[in-house]
Amino acid sequence: MASFILLKARAVTGHLLALLLSLTAVVLFPRYGCVDIIGGHIVCPHSRPFMAAIQRKNLTVCGGALVEEQWVLTAAHCDLEEREVRVVLGAHQVSTHEKEQQIFQVMQYFRHPQFDRSSMENDLMLLKLNGIAKLNKYVQLLPLPDSYEDIKPGTRCKVAGWGVTSSGKPSKYLRETTLKTVSRKRCERKYENSAKITSNTLCAEGKNIFLKRDSCKGDSGGPFICAGRYSGIVSFGKGCGRRGMPGVYTSLTKKYTD
Ligand code: ARG
Repeated sequence: MASFILLKARAVTGHLLALLLSLTAVVLFPRYGCVDIIGGHIVCPHSRPFMAAIQRKNLTVCGGALVEEQWVLTAAHCDLEEREVRVVLGAHQVSTHEKEQQIFQVMQYFRHPQFDRSSMENDLMLLKLNGIAKLNKYVQLLPLPDSYEDIKPGTRCKVAGWGVTSSGKPSKYLRETTLKTVSRKRCERKYENSAKITSNTLCAEGKNIFLKRDSCKGDSGGPFICAGRYSGIVSFGKGCGRRGMPGVYTSLTKKYTD
């Protein structure tokens, strides 16, 4: 009887210990289980099924979003016009062969006709794929917004990509980070001499004193999702993750979605 009670007690402490351990893990590592881009985290595999990786020679040069079965929306500054470009849908670890992946070539590039490389205005481009994506659990559309509302400063936005992380190297796995939009005034001040911040751009930065958060090289063209809506496209920034230096996003205003 005594040994039975002892065994029972051991089992209970065992359970308690396991519970305690998992609680600590949850507290210490908020994205424990499955959970940068700069200062972000790896997403659960295939949890952003609209993400497209645009690769040249197996290197992810830009991100994008599948907006229709044969169309990917990305940034106009992504220099892609080459035969070796491929668009990978349904990827998590993009540079390996994953059975969920669907790989396409680009049939046609539709850069915004008023894209200006020096001011970076109108930084958006549509890619027509050489085939029709099969929609499933791993490959889904991120439809364009059907109405437009200006995003107020301080709105929480998410951005994902396979771009450069704080290690200085591109990420093997898809990562995501959360940013907050900043006012256009503040953004204009930061980019005074180098770029034009118009009503067709959004600016956002990481709001954490300890952790820098930002998109970075290779994330360009990826979707910028504010308050759950497809709101913009990763465009440019001065460096990555610099304190007080917001990243700039093309805003999906009515002018563009029409
Ligand atoms: N232009 C970069 C690219 O081609 C994106 C940079 C975004 N930079 C930033 N600091 N938010 O991938």
